Amino acid sequence: MSDLIISGVEAGYGHVRVLHGVNLKVSDKPVALMGRNGMGKSTLAQAIMGLNATTAGTITYGDVTLTGLSPTKIANAGIGYVPQGRRVFPSLTVDEHLRILEKRNGQWSAKKVYELFPRLAERKKNGGAMLSGGEQQMLAIGRALMTNPTLLLMDEPSEGLAPAIVEHLGNSLRDLVAQGQRVLLIEQNLRFASNLCDEIVILSNGEIQATVSSKELRSSADLQNKYLGVA
Ligand SMILES: Nc1ncnc2c1ncn2[C@@H]1O[C@H](COP(=O)(O)OP(=O)(O)OP(=O)(O)O)[C@@H](O)[C@H]1O
Ligand SMILES: [Mg+2]
Repeated sequence: MSDLIISGVEAGYGHVRVLHGVNLKVSDKPVALMGRNGMGKSTLAQAIMGLNATTAGTITYGDVTLTGLSPTKIANAGIGYVPQGRRVFPSLTVDEHLRILEKRNGQWSAKKVYELFPRLAERKKNGGAMLSGGEQQMLAIGRALMTNPTLLLMDEPSEGLAPAIVEHLGNSLRDLVAQGQRVLLIEQNLRFASNLCDEIVILSNGEIQATVSSKELRSSADLQNKYLGVA
């Protein structure tokens, strides 16, 4: 299995630089990237996926250099992306979203996604516009899984979901990780992140500020205040 290695990555928008030399490694253990609003988490996710050009540094996945590749090639290298804000197609049904990505001998099938998220099976014929926020999130994750990723990159999957749905989603993701799925999770919800990941990396003003264990962060209001601006 491949490691994702991010070295000295700089990226931004126009003349505004947002990432100032980010270093991060994801191996077999799931990693959570956390930090306050506007710190550059989504910008980093977009840089990994080739949706935002890097101006310095390199990103490699196993022996593939991702920097400079198209988003399609990066997905083909094995990275499945769940963007922040879900972005399902309003007029495609749940089943259509999944079937158009189904590969003949891929590890994932629509059937497997329905086993992971039984709720989606009940909404098979519903259009994207007729799904609740939680259902859309499950569909966005199911769609990413249909590309048979070896690494799943999720940007705030718990955002805007009711606590019971967050819990359900967390359990499903834990099952995936137990089956060997590699994960880089961007999150603001500490409980959710720490239920999935032992390692938490803090991004602050476009730089990695710290790496802490989820146990340590959960038990310290001071650290939560310092790194996440909560508590
Ligand atoms: N399309 C864009 N054009 C210009 N600036 C942007 C754009 N998207 C984000 N930014 C700016 O880049 C910085 C980092 O934004 P980013 O979305 O990466 O933060 P984030 O850590 O994901 O925040 P959040 O937790 O709110 O999702 C912010 O200052 C933001 O205003
Ligand atoms: Mg974001």
